[in-house]
Amino acid sequence: MNRDMSRNWIVSTALPVHYQVRMVDGLLDLDNRALLEAGATRRSDTIRRLIVIDAAVDHLYGVQLRHYLQHHGVKYQILALPISETLKTMDAVFTVVEAINAFGLSRRHEPIIAMGGGVLMDIVGLAASLYRRSTPYVRVPTTLIGLVDAGVGAKTGVNHAAHKNRLGTYFPAKDTLLDRGFLRTLDTRHLVNGLAEILKIALIKDRTLFELLDRHGTTLIDERMQGHTPESAQAAAQVIERAITGMIEELEFNLWEHKLERVVDYGHTFSPTVEMLALPELLHGEAVNIDMALTTILSVQRGLISVEERDRIFALMRKLELPVYHRICEPAVLEEALADTVRHRDGLQRLPLAMGIGAACFVNDVRPSELRAALATLRELDGGSSPLLEAAHA
Ligand SMILES: NC(=O)c1ccc[n+]([C@@H]2O[C@H](COP(=O)([O-])OP(=O)(O)OC[C@H]3O[C@@H](n4cnc5c(N)ncnc54)[C@H](O)[C@@H]3O)[C@@H](O)[C@H]2O)c1
Ligand SMILES: [Zn+2]
Repeated sequence: MNRDMSRNWIVSTALPVHYQVRMVDGLLDLDNRALLEAGATRRSDTIRRLIVIDAAVDHLYGVQLRHYLQHHGVKYQILALPISETLKTMDAVFTVVEAINAFGLSRRHEPIIAMGGGVLMDIVGLAASLYRRSTPYVRVPTTLIGLVDAGVGAKTGVNHAAHKNRLGTYFPAKDTLLDRGFLRTLDTRHLVNGLAEILKIALIKDRTLFELLDRHGTTLIDERMQGHTPESAQAAAQVIERAITGMIEELEFNLWEHKLERVVDYGHTFSPTVEMLALPELLHGEAVNIDMALTTILSVQRGLISVEERDRIFALMRKLELPVYHRICEPAVLEEALADTVRHRDGLQRLPLAMGIGAACFVNDVRPSELRAALATLRELDGGSSPLLEAAHA
């Protein structure tokens, strides 16, 4: 008799991941079938869809959406969720789960459609990944952050216990349909908020993108990226394409973030804590920009960026009307933010810093004194010009 009861099983498997992100113009035009076919693995005579939509987007596009669905004979339910960063919680995920249950979703063939900004897509993505352990979904981003960032990667999540995105999964949508026409109704502040994530890509890896933002930034804001002239149309298309391409280049080889040195974490070291502490005053991209302003100064202190380059970067941030400072940024807050990020990055700072404009490196040895010096310079450079924000954009 074999008395050795300590057997060992090693299970090894691979998970192929394919997902699609594509530009689509006129998504709700009646002759455009992209939304009907997105994420569906088989054709059926009756199309059923559950659509989870940001209530504000429903208000703006709901009539057109229903007309589109009715025109194509789709049997649909629409769940309109009120959206804000403070409502990005598990409660919202449970609301979506209940709607999925009530709809009686077929598990593999009826992708959930998530229509809205980053908050809505993060909530629905998490619900889809949890529901019966995974249910396909399709993303239709309607904000600039959604188009160039939240709609491109694999991350889902909600805030929990005052921590940003503390609960979440890696679960990309099968298909993401990018129609920048939705941006025409976005307010200036949220458009600019998205430009901050684009500036991030520019600073760490794409100098041409920086030049494009510098040259066309104001027009892109005024025209809501809709391109009213051939020149601005080309600029808007190039800016969005370069931002998405840059993002995907960084994500594709590291989708599950096994490698914790990520240049796309630039601007996301101090900002998660700053954003949550300042809620609801700061938007995500605004907090990211403050982080980038601070770390630009850290780069200058370490001789990685010249003072002239720093001034160019700050001038562009101002041109885009992005805040570079918020009063919540006290030394103790920044130190705690860094400590929390070190836990998130498995014991090391792995802090991406810009090297000049368009390249990055990582450091692990930023000290509190260095941080305090950078903060003092930041306050000087800001000179009280980023008081906030509702007033500035009203
Ligand atoms: N999963 C990811 O990889 C990822 C990446 C970046 C950001 N995010 C998350 O995304 C969130 C920020 O996303 P956001 O900036 O899109 O914010 P958001 O989803 O809160 O949308 C911003 C505002 O715009 C409104 N809105 C949406 N579409 C509109 C339209 N077409 N016209 C008019 N108003 C519209 C919304 O109702 C909301 O008030 C943050 O929670 C952030 O953590 C996630
Ligand atoms: Zn971000």
